[in-house]
This record gives sequence, C-alpha cells and structure tokens, in this order.
Amino acid sequence: LDNGLALTPTMGWLHWERFMCNIDCDMDPQNCIREELFMQMADLMVEEKWKDAGYEFVCIDDCWSSHQRDAQGRLQADPKRFPSGIKKLADYIHSKGLKLGIYADVGTKTCAGYPGSLGHYKTDAKTFAEWGVDLLKFDGCYMPDWTLLAEGYVNMSKALNETGRKIVYSCEWPLYEWSHQEPNYKAIKGACNHWRNYGDIYDQWVSVKSILNWTANHQNILVPVAGPGGWNDPDMLIIGNFGLSHDQQQTQMALWAIMAAPLLMSNDLRNIPYKSKKLLQNRKIIAINQDRAGKQGYRIAEVNGFEVWERPLSRGGLAVAVINKQEIGGPRHFSISLATVTSCNPICKITQILPTYRKLGIQDVESKLIILVNPTGTTLLTIKPSKSD
Ligand code: DGJ
Repeated sequence: LDNGLALTPTMGWLHWERFMCNIDCDMDPQNCIREELFMQMADLMVEEKWKDAGYEFVCIDDCWSSHQRDAQGRLQADPKRFPSGIKKLADYIHSKGLKLGIYADVGTKTCAGYPGSLGHYKTDAKTFAEWGVDLLKFDGCYMPDWTLLAEGYVNMSKALNETGRKIVYSCEWPLYEWSHQEPNYKAIKGACNHWRNYGDIYDQWVSVKSILNWTANHQNILVPVAGPGGWNDPDMLIIGNFGLSHDQQQTQMALWAIMAAPLLMSNDLRNIPYKSKKLLQNRKIIAINQDRAGKQGYRIAEVNGFEVWERPLSRGGLAVAVINKQEIGGPRHFSISLATVTSCNPICKITQILPTYRKLGIQDVESKLIILVNPTGTTLLTIKPSKSD
C-alpha cells in the first residue's frame, strides 16, 4: 500500500501467540489482556533497548474490546480490563516514543467472538484514528460470504486513508481467500502494508517448518509482490518462549530476515532468556531484514537434508541461509562454491552472522566455503562484493 508507511518491514510486539485470549484477570492478573500488560511491554521496550534495536510497535490483538458497541455505535474497550480507555493507552505509548497497534475484524465478529467491523468500517477507522492508533491488524473471521473479503479489506483501507492519520494496515485477506481461490496479490498489495498468507504460528518447531515450506512452495507468487510498503507476513516471532531450541530460534530469526518479514515478537519481555534477547536484538540480522532494497528472499536449493535460501541485498550484496533439516545426528558440513555466487565476482567479503559472528575475510570465485550447520539450526552469511585493488 502506497501510504508512505512500512517502507521496511514493521517491527514490534504483538500479544497473540504468547497471551492469546486470556481475560481472566482475577486468576491471572500478570498475563491477562489488560492495559497494564501493554504498558509494561512499552516500558521494557525502552528500558531493555528493544526500541534502539528497531522494535517500535506495541500491538493489541483480539479480546481487547467490550462485547457491546457504545450508544453511538462505536467500538469500546472492555471497561474492567482497560479502565483508562485506548486513547490514554495510546498517549502513554507515544510518550515512550513508541506506536500502538490495535485489532479488528472484517466480518461480523472477531475470531474470539467480539464485535466485528462489517457495516462499521468508517466509524471504526475514525474511532481508531481519534484514539491515536498507528497500526490496525484486520482479521478475516465471520465474513458471511468469502466473495465479500476483497471488498471489505479494500473498503477498510479506504476508510483508514480517509481519516488522514498514518495507520499501518496489516491484513489477513489472502489467508482467508486461499481456501477458495488464488488471491489477487496485486489488489492486496494495493490495499495493505502487510498480509498473512498462511495459518497461525504456534510454539513448536513443526509450526515454523510448515510456514517455511508453505512459503517456499508458493515463492513464485509471493516474492515478486513484496517490496517497500507491502510485505508477506509469515506471522509472529516466537523466540523467547517454550517450544523452540536455541538452534531453532536462530533458524526463525534468520529466515524471517531472509523473507523480509514483519518482525512482531510475541513473547514475555518481562521474562525472556538472555540468549533469546541477544538473538532478537542482533543488529546484523535486523539489518538484513530491514535492507532498503526490500527484496524478499527465496529458497534456491534442497540438497542432502539442507535447505539453501538467499536474499539479494542493496549494493550487490547477498544474504545466504543454510538450514540443516536433518533431525538426527550432529552438526554437518555444507560446502558453497563461490563460482555460482554473482556477488563474488571476482572477489567478495564474507561474514558469518549465525550461529556465531565470524569474519570469513576476502574470498574469490575459486574459493570453496565450508560451513557447519547444527541440526534444525541455520548458518547465516552475508556475501558482499569487494574491489580487487
Ligand atoms: C486469527 C489470526 O490469524 C491470529 O493471528 C489471531 O489474530 C487470532 N485470529 C485472534 O483471534
């Protein structure tokens, strides 16, 4: 969407995968969806340097609203869990130099059964703008007829634009359309800043694997549409939670960078392992994700239980990720012949970024690079052209 926003993939935090629809604040006050949760995350985003690393949006997902609209037909926050209201929360988040994301649904209800926006797009867009919202995640549940999805998503895009406020528009249009037909990605890119294509992520390696597989299997459709202002969204980062080993967390971070994916963490910033925090804040990986050229990477080979992915970077550079898909045994060697890498003609500078940072120095077309990759882990490299003088 050409609204001047999301010129690089959105970075921030989103509550869904980690906190879901926990509304039991009597039983679980620390983890229920209420204003304190978002205020605490905003505090930590600044104190723990997430903001300095580029994470900017604090995003609310489903289950924030009251079950009733107000007397004027506007959405309102649940009065018990958000007693100060969303406008106050937005002010608080802005006072920290951060941005606020909110959630709504194109159909009659949200997936968790809260009021949907169908028939209220203009009112809801206006309400969000008045509150000072900076991003809208627009879900696709409960659309009475799937053929109305396109119109609904486009109309909300227009309604947001008409408010005059700069609001990043995060869609799930293709995800809900794929079960009926191949989505029209040109139209989607014209209306949305990013869009979910595939099912929800959950805290397991199989979930990350299936997202990568689906994306690679559809890359001929997905890769050409991605670019500044419009990104494919493979869903939240689950790094720092329970289900992934550290090698698998490195794979998620590396591949989300290769895929030019929005980096929306869904974890508990109050309690996150040190290594996960370092990985999420790794400036070298973030730089690949945020590369100004905005070209999405793709899988180039599946060989011998390895997957090789690459992403073209600005100034002729290349990021390469090698995943060891073999889930038995130990680290295995993989050899890359630089003769096949255009960024390395005649010579190039190679840096290993994961699993550990290592300068591999200047190499030439004749070189064979041998790397080591842990099971379910990823070795991530950048290859930058160099001059022979
Ligand atoms: C489905 C979406 O894909 C998820 O990311 C999340 O927003 C839930 N709905 C909320 O109900």
